[in-house]
Amino acid sequence: MRSVFRDITDNFFEILSYKKEEWNKFWHIYKIKVPYVELYQKKNELSDEKILNKLFSYGRKYLDEMFWYKFENAEKVKTEIIKMVGKNVQKYNLQRGDYTVRIIGLTGDKPYEFVDTYAGTIILIDYLYFYKNKEKTTIKEIMDKAILDFIENNEVNEKKANFWITYDEIKKVVYDNKNKNIAMKKIVKILDKRFDYFDWTGFYLVENNELKLGEFIGEPTEHKKIKFGEGICGQAAETQKTFVVKDVNKESNYLSCSPKTKSEIVVPIFGKNNSIVGEIDIDSHKVNAFDDGDKEFLENIAILLKKYF
Ligand code: SME
Repeated sequence: MRSVFRDITDNFFEILSYKKEEWNKFWHIYKIKVPYVELYQKKNELSDEKILNKLFSYGRKYLDEMFWYKFENAEKVKTEIIKMVGKNVQKYNLQRGDYTVRIIGLTGDKPYEFVDTYAGTIILIDYLYFYKNKEKTTIKEIMDKAILDFIENNEVNEKKANFWITYDEIKKVVYDNKNKNIAMKKIVKILDKRFDYFDWTGFYLVENNELKLGEFIGEPTEHKKIKFGEGICGQAAETQKTFVVKDVNKESNYLSCSPKTKSEIVVPIFGKNNSIVGEIDIDSHKVNAFDDGDKEFLENIAILLKKYF
């Protein structure tokens, strides 16, 4: 089972190593390091300015005291939470696998917030809120409420959960394998197995300014080499953008691999110097099989593959 919760407040407490005049710089870096922060801001329509004013109103001394309080209690709280999660596997419906919890530093305005990522919902527990209310509540209590709120009010999103689990599985493959061809072979296998609407799953790699067929699972294709600009794959390579085609029969610039194919998604893979090095290509026998979730998921898989190029 995935670990359900993580404490990432350390990133917030880095604020204490900045001069007050540089807290805006801190916040800018914090948002890059912890992308949930930006999602939280968007959801609550909070500008950087509003947040900084809030932090200034707490002041350094208060945040410093909070740090030491956290430092002294962290281990105890962690043990308690692990115990609580272990006892409540069923109550928290952990097998649905579409959420995780992060303890984080935000603004102290609300106990928790849900933010959606390509990998599922993240339940953010704001340590600042807890600290302000520590006489009345505990992290455990806030977390319990937040999880129950989430599972009561959000239908299980199996598609999202599947993205999440598969992303983890592929991340591990990339981490464990130095050889890109072995990794890609494993990745097409995983994608093919996890998604029943992926009917042809493969890679094209850029070689001598054209696309060359790499590892794939599905019917053999005659398109072993594709020029930039030709077909969906060639257009994605030329424009360096993801192509989602709802109905291939309506496309004029399309190379057919199988009459059964109805829709297609092609996602470019960029190397470390940001030039295009290949593509993930997936065909489906269903019309309009790929939505924004698939696009985001596959674009994130492409980012994992940067390591090899
Ligand atoms: N349909 C693609 C060609 C590759 S096959 O789908 C495997 C295209 O139009 O570029």
